[in-house]
Amino acid sequence: MSGGIAAYKSAEIVRLLRKQGCEVRVVMTASAQRFVTPLTFQALSGQTVHSDLFDIAQEQAMSHIHLARWADALLIAPASADLLAKMAHGLADDLLSTLCLAAQCPVYLAPAMNQAMWQHPAVKDNLALLRQRGVRVIGPASGEQACGEQGLGRMSEPSAICDVLMATDTTALLAGRKVMITAGPTREPIDPVRFISNRSSGRMGYAIAEAARDAGAQVTLVSGPVALPSPHGVRVIAVESAKAMHDGVMRRIDDCDIFIGAAAVADYRPAQVADAKLKKHDDTLAIVLEKNPDIIATVASLARKPFVVGFAAETDDLERYALGKLRDKNLDMIAANWVGQAEGGFDSERNALDVYWPGGHQALAMADKRELARRLILLIAQRRNENHTT
Ligand code: C5P
Repeated sequence: MSGGIAAYKSAEIVRLLRKQGCEVRVVMTASAQRFVTPLTFQALSGQTVHSDLFDIAQEQAMSHIHLARWADALLIAPASADLLAKMAHGLADDLLSTLCLAAQCPVYLAPAMNQAMWQHPAVKDNLALLRQRGVRVIGPASGEQACGEQGLGRMSEPSAICDVLMATDTTALLAGRKVMITAGPTREPIDPVRFISNRSSGRMGYAIAEAARDAGAQVTLVSGPVALPSPHGVRVIAVESAKAMHDGVMRRIDDCDIFIGAAAVADYRPAQVADAKLKKHDDTLAIVLEKNPDIIATVASLARKPFVVGFAAETDDLERYALGKLRDKNLDMIAANWVGQAEGGFDSERNALDVYWPGGHQALAMADKRELARRLILLIAQRRNENHTT
């Protein structure tokens, strides 16, 4: 726990986790102890509360390194703006920040701060950096704040935090598995300076790559041009056109266990790419397009076929089109989403998915794309295991 008024809610988190059978050890910063007392947390956790890196008695009982090794998961709730900054920059000047560096288990943050602080570019940058390194962020929620302001920054409710902690523990779910993911748009050149493309941001595919990595997989991400940082620990192959994406995939698909096609691949490309920049002459200009190879269908037709998951972005008749693609492309699973709606889809931070497989369906409710990616990876791993055991 770092310092913040939301610290009082952490008592309920400890209670709920213990109710689920977890052993809980509480580490409090000096500021956290200004809001709530260690005695409360000692009573709730049934364990000594740790707070001082330089306390000989505490270090003798369980050193900060042993504490880091002991934990299956590290949850920081509340995570203050100060703590995010320290973590982002690798500072280790007290027990909690030192533990953050020493921990090799999954790390979860439940940020809590004033809405203006939450919006600050420094906080956003720190959080983006931490996410890129694999730290999982829960919340924050929106609503009335202790300071009287309204907005995003309240710590998520204890039950929601515990649900995430317990439900999406996908660690080791895909250990040793090789996962290939395509992401982003493709660019189909018209001439040296122009191309045809689409609105895909790549966020969904990148979030899936991170979730697969967090589940222990060895991940290759074949990505069209996007404005996203390469996820840490993921091999990224940067491509531009659908043809280059096809070649990038086929060159590395051989021993792949799972293939997830999240890219918005252009269906057609200009048949002729002009060597020099096209000049304007007539009032109209026709560009003849020819079909691109269907990457996912090619992968799904391989003799040694991985478990293949496709995406279907539709503006109408979602289920019918998704099921059609599942069948026609010989996929094992398809994740369908509405595009062109008020929330979700291509250029958004959030999304909702309807996932279909032969004989089954599950709806994944509207959520941050990272959270959604974790749920999708869980579903993929479950379905793949079922396929393997039947
Ligand atoms: O047919 P449609 O483009 O809607 O299918 C979408 C699915 O097919 C996505 O998984 C997408 O990544 C994949 N796809 C592909 N190669 C193409 C076109 C689509 O892999 N040329």
